[in-house]
Amino acid sequence: MVSLYERSQRVMAPVANRATKLGVIKGEGTYIYTEDGRKILDFASGVAVNNLGHNHPQVVKAATKQMSQLVHGGHNVVYYESYVALAEKIVSLSKEETKVYFSNSGAEANDGALKLAKYVTERPAVISFKNSFHGRTIGAMSVTASNAGYRKHYEGMMPGVYFAEFPHLSKSPYPIVDLKTPKHFFDQFDDMFHSLVDPYSVAAIIVEPIQGEGGYIVPPKDFVQYLRVLCDHYGIFLIFDEIQTGFGRTGYMFASEYFEVEPDIRTVAKGIANGFPLSAIIAKAEIMDKWEAGAHGGTFGGNPVACAAALATIEVLEKEGIENAQLMGAYFKEMLLDLQEKYSFIEEVRGIGLMLAIEFANTSELSAQEILKEAIAESLAKDVLFLSCGMHKNVLRFIPPTTVSKNEIIEAVSVLDEVLSQL
Ligand SMILES: Cc1ncc(COP(=O)(O)O)c(C=O)c1O
Repeated sequence: MVSLYERSQRVMAPVANRATKLGVIKGEGTYIYTEDGRKILDFASGVAVNNLGHNHPQVVKAATKQMSQLVHGGHNVVYYESYVALAEKIVSLSKEETKVYFSNSGAEANDGALKLAKYVTERPAVISFKNSFHGRTIGAMSVTASNAGYRKHYEGMMPGVYFAEFPHLSKSPYPIVDLKTPKHFFDQFDDMFHSLVDPYSVAAIIVEPIQGEGGYIVPPKDFVQYLRVLCDHYGIFLIFDEIQTGFGRTGYMFASEYFEVEPDIRTVAKGIANGFPLSAIIAKAEIMDKWEAGAHGGTFGGNPVACAAALATIEVLEKEGIENAQLMGAYFKEMLLDLQEKYSFIEEVRGIGLMLAIEFANTSELSAQEILKEAIAESLAKDVLFLSCGMHKNVLRFIPPTTVSKNEIIEAVSVLDEVLSQL
């Protein structure tokens, strides 16, 4: 049998890079099934998308029902129930009065959010963070700084973007006193406003409340809270990119709850519809109301089937997913901390909810990158799928669905333990 991988080599653009060569024919719960008969425990969830596991029956049922009624209406053309009902539901999840705009991907939502901020403030500049990832369109890429490879040959993107340092306290080059965020991380904005860009020229600060692709880095709460103060002071919009952290991933519907900070604009995608392509810009109503008709748009945004799937996804998350993510996240993290006791090359265990990671350090025989590569390859050989992240390619991330069970976590950790013990 010619595998899907082999067939794809002849016809697929190599630019669509994959972490594995698996050809998958079915997904159910926390497992994927391959064309060559393997059953694989999936702790990647399509990169934080299947937050309720594969093919959750309630989501499939809602999507199937919607498909029998209307597959596409076009949000430039008509109104339909699943679109409006989802917007109502999302607005009800916000602490403040908000309005919603739907699109298809995370990058598209971020592009839209940047356009919204520029349009309403009539200011040109944007501040983002080193090590951040916001997507691959020219706009989203312009505020991304996790990998120079994403920019290679594309330089000269959206102008007026400035990058600040994101606090990863355990790696802080600045001394930490009383476990507090070093002053540098706060003062850097004054320096920036003094030497690089006038604060009243800045439309938005865009930030992942927890950096995803950059290595699952959880910043200190006081830093995120300071961003809110800073933005309020200068009339800058605070954009939270919750594309990876949203919809139960962190044990909260949105990571902003953990930080106790509300953004002006929030972008979401990935887990919103448990696998159907959908994204949203959620902004304070007073901001959205100033984005005039025609200033943004698209053909497929808010597809009826994706919206119906999202409604079902949110219902299950509220009923059981988020609570399970908190319980299983705490349990999982304990197990990872136990692994750290055992293996000195596990430098750090971090993350909240089910957005967890371990960072490897070099040993005398192996580099951290080699350890990560081996850990992923050998775990997959034993039918457990993990992904990497981090700027230095030394972080193993764990993104199981919020529906994951204790036994599945035990299975994943024991396979990893066995693999690490062989290194
Ligand atoms: C935080 C964050 N923002 C934006 C994106 C881009 O989303 P998409 O790939 O749907 O364009 C991602 C994808 O990994 C992400 O993790």
